[in-house]
Amino acid sequence: MKREKYLVTSALPYANGHLHIGHVAGAYLPADIFVRFQKLLGNDVIYICGTDENGAPISIKAEAEGKTPREIVDHYHDSIVKSFQELEIDFDNFSGTARPEHTKISQKFFLNLLKAGYIIQKTTQQLYCEHDKRFLADRYIEGTCPYCGAEGARGDQCDACGKLIDAMKLIDPKCKICGNTPIVKETTNWYIELPKFEKPLREWLKTKIYWKENVLNFIMSWLNEGLIERSITRDLNWGIPVPLDDAEGKVLYVWFDAPIGYLSSTVEWAKDLGTPDRWKDYWLDPNTKLIHFLGKDNIPFHTIIWPSMLMEQDEEYVLPHDVPANEYLNIKGKQTSTSRNYAIWVRDFVKYFKPEFLRYYLAAIAPETKDSDFSWEDFQSKINNELANILGNLANRVFTFVNKYFDGVIEKPQKLSQLSENTLDEAHKLVNEVKECYENYRVRKAVKLIMDIARSGNKYFDETKPWFAVKTDKAAASETLYVCAKLLRIISIVFSPVLPKAMKKLRAMMNLTTPLAWNELNNPLQKTALGTIEPLFRKITDKEVKEQNDLLDKQSCFAPAFEHKPEIEYDDFTKIELRVVKVIAAETIPKAKKLLKLKIDCAGEIRQVIAGISQYYKPEDLIGKQVVLLMNLKPRKLMGLESQGMILAANSKDGIAVIVPEKDVPEGSEVL
Ligand code: 2FM
Ligand code: ZN
Repeated sequence: MKREKYLVTSALPYANGHLHIGHVAGAYLPADIFVRFQKLLGNDVIYICGTDENGAPISIKAEAEGKTPREIVDHYHDSIVKSFQELEIDFDNFSGTARPEHTKISQKFFLNLLKAGYIIQKTTQQLYCEHDKRFLADRYIEGTCPYCGAEGARGDQCDACGKLIDAMKLIDPKCKICGNTPIVKETTNWYIELPKFEKPLREWLKTKIYWKENVLNFIMSWLNEGLIERSITRDLNWGIPVPLDDAEGKVLYVWFDAPIGYLSSTVEWAKDLGTPDRWKDYWLDPNTKLIHFLGKDNIPFHTIIWPSMLMEQDEEYVLPHDVPANEYLNIKGKQTSTSRNYAIWVRDFVKYFKPEFLRYYLAAIAPETKDSDFSWEDFQSKINNELANILGNLANRVFTFVNKYFDGVIEKPQKLSQLSENTLDEAHKLVNEVKECYENYRVRKAVKLIMDIARSGNKYFDETKPWFAVKTDKAAASETLYVCAKLLRIISIVFSPVLPKAMKKLRAMMNLTTPLAWNELNNPLQKTALGTIEPLFRKITDKEVKEQNDLLDKQSCFAPAFEHKPEIEYDDFTKIELRVVKVIAAETIPKAKKLLKLKIDCAGEIRQVIAGISQYYKPEDLIGKQVVLLMNLKPRKLMGLESQGMILAANSKDGIAVIVPEKDVPEGSEVL
């Protein structure tokens, strides 16, 4: 059989945060399963990744945390690597894009494109924050998406509709650091001329009829809208320097260098193996199938910009063979939000549960064709009712029976009954379907089919009733156990891409020592002496589900941001008399730095109010203004002056803002 060659990648995670389960479901678990499956088939496959360490995503995080970008990168790189190890996401190489080799290769990519005439230099107006004295791009700017109207769109992409954005087109842009509205200022950047790639891209994409529908739809709508030049450099101090003399202070846009990380990580892999040219066996061999796993927001970069970049280099690089993009994983119906800490972090998950529970659940609900939803209740139900009650139960009942009645040994029968033959035939049919699912990235269905094999094992066990047969027809009971053991062996092979550890354990219980391989399925099962038996999976309790729900509520900012005061009755509220009044005079008070003396008119009733707002308001700012007065507060003296009430104001870290009615109302109007 011809060995296929695969170069599999997962989107490089930004080294600016820990790994959460949404990342795992979209880009890493599906790829890891695919790679393990291809390795089982005996194909030549390497799985390459690394952290995405350049540009605004990192520098903005560093500024927010008061650290250097390097500190941020190192910290999160290590955390991400640890989470991958815990989940047994098994890369052949995991690099990082702030490494020197990556810089070198990225600069070469830029220069090659420049030399070939696909990059131009342009001076344009860009957003600039006068307060922070810097150009604002990507995550440094936020506004309303010009395409879908969603708020919070970044300067390079809108999360809501996935469209790439020219920051100048953002509606109502605001500096992400200080919140001010930017001005526009001239600067020079380099642009990749995507329109020049339209024809070759269309030609190449013609052969991609087998791509996922969601991916093809996205690309076609992009192409049909017309490609435009895209800026691939930034005014920023963290990133890969633009390798030109007149490019002081300019770095490559993070999305220009990030995909090159797949290549530089492969180069690093080859070097570490002591065979520095080996990367060429993959990147320069037209037979290599280059497959990029990613979440849907990464589609345009991998299917339009990255292939264009690859087309005009000094080497004949392979172009992506497939880009199986996944949709999003929501949590309890809401989109994951790292800024609100509304996420389930892998490092937290593994404190409570076996990583394989996550692998199973995320595979079973994989967001392959539409967004899917994580809930702890559903997690419990899938682990308990499927993994434990169907597969765990089959293994447990078979092995316990073998130990009890057959001294722990499963014998090969002389011949099989029709029912036994049918059960095994059925299982082999399912195995073929599973194979097809794995090949086509349909993990969700593969999981269901494998559980069907276990289900049929339980059904067969129930129908043949070995607990009766053992008393009258021991050979029949032994046959049941043999057939079930065969089913369990099948499962131990075909399920190993999803549950590597548990399947290893299952195989150890059956003393299966040969290396895992898909073609083991064709071998007869010989006499088997069982090893030490233990339950394959534990169950999740209701208490654990509640605990996890509480934790999620507590950690996320959808939860209350403040400690609230004790509840009051409506009657308590009605004791307060609030009215709109007018400030008719205001003056500073000598020696009182913070206080202003106000004269208030409440429909003819005149009062004196002493307010601690002089740091924020000059007397003339207030005269003639309508404000809200707490009228029935017992008068008290401040600096020897009586204050007959209190005006309402919002108090924040930015200072004090007096509350005013949204439009003029008759003085004395009650505030409710
Ligand atoms: O969206 C992201 O998280 C990016 N860091 C993915 C980069 S993929 C690749 F091109 F490197
Ligand atoms: Zn600013």
